[in-house]
Amino acid sequence: MSLNPRIAQLRAMREQARMGGGRERIERQHEKGKLTARERIEKLVDAGSFRELDMFVTHRATGFGVEKQKYLGDSVVTGWGYIDGRLVYLFSQDFTVFGGSLSEVHAEKICKIMDLAMKNGAPIIGLNDSGGARIQEGVVSLAGYAYIFLRNVLASGVVPQISAIMGPCAGGAVYSPAITDFILMTKGSSHMFITGPEVIKAATHEEVTFEELGGAMTHASKSGVAHFAAENEEHCLSLIRRLLSYIPQNNTEDPPFVPTADPEDRMDEALKTIIPDSPTKPYDMKEVIRRVVDNGEFLEVHEHWAQNIIVGFARLGGFSVGIVAQQPLVLAGVLDIDSSRKGARFVRFCDAFNIPIVTFVDVPGFLPGVDQEHRGIIVNGAKLLYAYCEATVPKLTVITRKAYGGAYDVMSSKHIRGDISYAWPTAEIAVMGPEGAVNIVFRKEIAEADDPEAVRERLVAEYRAQFANPYVAAARGYIDDVIEPQETRPRLIEALRMLRNKRDANPPKKHGNIPL
Ligand code: HXC
Repeated sequence: MSLNPRIAQLRAMREQARMGGGRERIERQHEKGKLTARERIEKLVDAGSFRELDMFVTHRATGFGVEKQKYLGDSVVTGWGYIDGRLVYLFSQDFTVFGGSLSEVHAEKICKIMDLAMKNGAPIIGLNDSGGARIQEGVVSLAGYAYIFLRNVLASGVVPQISAIMGPCAGGAVYSPAITDFILMTKGSSHMFITGPEVIKAATHEEVTFEELGGAMTHASKSGVAHFAAENEEHCLSLIRRLLSYIPQNNTEDPPFVPTADPEDRMDEALKTIIPDSPTKPYDMKEVIRRVVDNGEFLEVHEHWAQNIIVGFARLGGFSVGIVAQQPLVLAGVLDIDSSRKGARFVRFCDAFNIPIVTFVDVPGFLPGVDQEHRGIIVNGAKLLYAYCEATVPKLTVITRKAYGGAYDVMSSKHIRGDISYAWPTAEIAVMGPEGAVNIVFRKEIAEADDPEAVRERLVAEYRAQFANPYVAAARGYIDDVIEPQETRPRLIEALRMLRNKRDANPPKKHGNIPL
């Protein structure tokens, strides 16, 4: 039987839409090592689960001959699908149509799925690959961006928003991803910048390549704009799936519970000896984390930026947790401007999406220095303090070694609503380290002594014995218990379970004024 002509037309139009800007441009995309917009979606979502919307939308612009250049669906593919059986809304910019540039209808398509995501409480994932504003549409395109920016802001803290940058993303276009919760960039094929190398050369005479200026590793290690630098597109898409597994669908839900074969009561004897005898010797806090969490699985966020603090997702007894920890291997784990910003942003994400926070503390304090002071360590350090103070999710703390000064207060202490604080016997909770303290308090005695070094040594030893331990804080209930390192995993899981129904709230307000 011959096909009904109307059905034949529909099928032909669908096929035409799927071809985007045509075979040649698809080949050019592949030659660059890039997948097409639809291929990316197919690899991202559960097989066969994608439902496309607005496949027949075309642009309405005139002038510059564009009225003769219409492509079904225009330059973005939008719709919904499922990842591990969970609903997500997606847009994927099609570089084969006008370089993925943002037209009026491109923006309308994105806004439509963002509105659906908000009404139905599911994450929004944007796969970005675009030459920016559709030059032929002028201010109409700029308006389109603004409609998206507004929705990004209104959705912030309501549904998770994830941006993958898989090609160019320049000018004001960067501000949509910037407002979302996580940015992933593909190495070698993605760039983000406000102004490109040529404009920079004209304006400041600086010469810089695309990659140095705004490539994946630049933003993952220098600016902190990117949370993940993926090896390639497949890796990027699999990272999105993995990231979502730790995150709830929206701010009214809990994260997925993933039962584990890793015993909840598993002790880890290696933790007993992980802290070196010398307080100035470093150790790898990531090893502590891996030894404590389910199956040693830790999804690190911002792995390459501000490495003196570690943030990322893991599970404990099946419960999703956000982990924040000092890294003694880098700058002795000191808090500086970047690490405070990194920690603060992560803590706020976890709090917005009901993910308990587990903090491992080994902090010598805030980084001294003229540069840090002049660039605002005061206001930036305050961000981390603010974030921990306002967070109402369960907050668990383990002090492994140093917790000195203001940084002790900041790192999820009981005084700022930490729920359970544990310390290892190696913890040193004090205003400052023994050497610094003795030099200040006993300056005169040391200077006047016959043998100043011997006196200093004796005083340091006395101070260490008296203050550099967990028991002064434990005596006041500032920490809830001193635990043996090997029992950290079971003790944290028990505490998480105990806090499962925690309810806490902040006073009613329009919004706080975090020191930005
Ligand atoms: C319309 C565009 C376009 C754009 C690219 N194309 N950018 N069409 N508007 N912004 C078209 C090209 O004409 C070409 O069409 C196709 O997309 C592929 O572009 P190529 O240049 O051949 O590709 P490539 O060599 O890979 O270079 C990609 C590029 C370059 C780096 C993105 O095209 C470029 O620099 N484009 C202009 C970027 C830009 O200045 N945008 C405005 C930025 S300001 P054909 O028909 O040949 O396939 C901005 C403000 C946003 O975005 C403000 C928000 C508030």
